[in-house]
Amino acid sequence: MSEPLLQVRRLGVTFGPFTALQDVNFDLSAGETLGLVGESGSGKSTLARAILRLVPAVRGEVLWRGRNLLGCSAAQMRQQRRDLQIVFQDPLASLNPRMTVAEILAEPLKIFEPAMSARARQLQIGAMLERVGLAVRMAGRYPHEFSGGQCQRIGIARAMMLNPRLLICDEPVSSLDVSIQGQIVNLLLDLQQDLGTAMLFISHNLAVVRHLSHRVLVIYSGRLVEIAPRDVLFAAPVHPYTRTLLAAVPNLSNSSRVPGPSAAGEPPNAAQEPPASLDTPSGCVFYGRCAFAQPACALAQPPLQEVAAEHFVACRRSRELMC
Ligand SMILES: Nc1ncnc2c1ncn2[C@@H]1O[C@H](COP(=O)(O)OP(=O)(O)OP(=O)(O)O)[C@@H](O)[C@H]1O
Ligand SMILES: [Mg+2]
Repeated sequence: MSEPLLQVRRLGVTFGPFTALQDVNFDLSAGETLGLVGESGSGKSTLARAILRLVPAVRGEVLWRGRNLLGCSAAQMRQQRRDLQIVFQDPLASLNPRMTVAEILAEPLKIFEPAMSARARQLQIGAMLERVGLAVRMAGRYPHEFSGGQCQRIGIARAMMLNPRLLICDEPVSSLDVSIQGQIVNLLLDLQQDLGTAMLFISHNLAVVRHLSHRVLVIYSGRLVEIAPRDVLFAAPVHPYTRTLLAAVPNLSNSSRVPGPSAAGEPPNAAQEPPASLDTPSGCVFYGRCAFAQPACALAQPPLQEVAAEHFVACRRSRELMC
C-alpha cells in the first residue's frame, strides 16, 4: 500500500462556542474514493472545508503528501490548491454568472499554466467539455443557459481542468433530478478511474455512496464513529448510529445488518431527537439516542478502535456488537 496522499489527524473545528468537528482522523490514498455519510449538521461540509482551509481548524493536522496544510502560508496554500479541488452541491450558484463556460474553464489554466498559449487552452477546454459530456459549441454560453445537470458537468470540468490529485464532492448530485443523478455519479466514477484521482464523496444518498466508495466514513455530531471498507460497512455495520442510519433506508436494509436485539436483548432505538451537543456531556456523542448505551458510555467519548482489518469503530461495546 502506498503512502496515503491525505492524512487527517485530530482535526477540530469550532464556530464560537460550538464544536463542529472533534478529533477527526483518517487517511486517503491515491485512486481511492472515501464516502462520507452522516445526518444533516453532523459536520460533513465542515470537514471538507477544513481540509481545504475554507474554514479554519482550531486543532490537528491536514497532511497532504506529508506536508501540513494548516501550517502553509496563503501563497503556499494557493499552490497546493491546484491539486485539491471541490465540487459543490448547488451547481449554478458555484459558477460565476458573468463568465462564459470557456472563461470559467480557462481560469484555472490561466492561474496555474500562465505560459500556455490561447490555442492550447482552447483545445484543452474543448477536450474537457467532451470528456464531461458537453458539446464544444456550448463553450460560449453562460451558466444560466444550462440545466442543473449540465451546470454540474461544468463544475466538474472546472475542478478537473488541472488534473487534481484530490477531488472533494460535497453532495454533488443532491440538488439534481433523480434521473440525472446517475449520469453525474457515473461521470465522476469514470473520471476518477481514468485519472486515478482520490475522492472524498459526501452524500446523504447511501445507495450512491455504496456504488462509488472503496471505504466509508460515518460521522455523527462532529465525530467519526465508524470507518470501514464499503462492503463491510453495508453488510455488517457495528456502531449503533451506523446501524440506525442504514436501517432507515429500506432498499439497503436487505443487504445490511439492521439494528436488532443486541446480545443483551435491547431493542433498536429509532428515536429521532437531535444529537446531544458536543459541548455538554463528556460522554459518547450518540449516548442520548443509543439503544445499546450503558452508564459508562456517559463518562467518556470512546476513541476509534480497530475491530477488524481497516474497520474502526468508536463504541465501548463494539466487540460485543460484532458478535
Ligand atoms: N460558518 C459557520 N458558522 C457557524 N456554524 C456553522 C458554520 N458552518 C457550519 N456550522 C454549523 O456546524 C455544524 C455542521 O455543519 P455542516 O454544514 O458541516 O453539516 P453537514 O453535515 O454538511 O450538513 P448537511 O448534510 O445539511 O449539509 C452545523 O451545526 C452548522 O450549523
Ligand atoms: Mg453539508
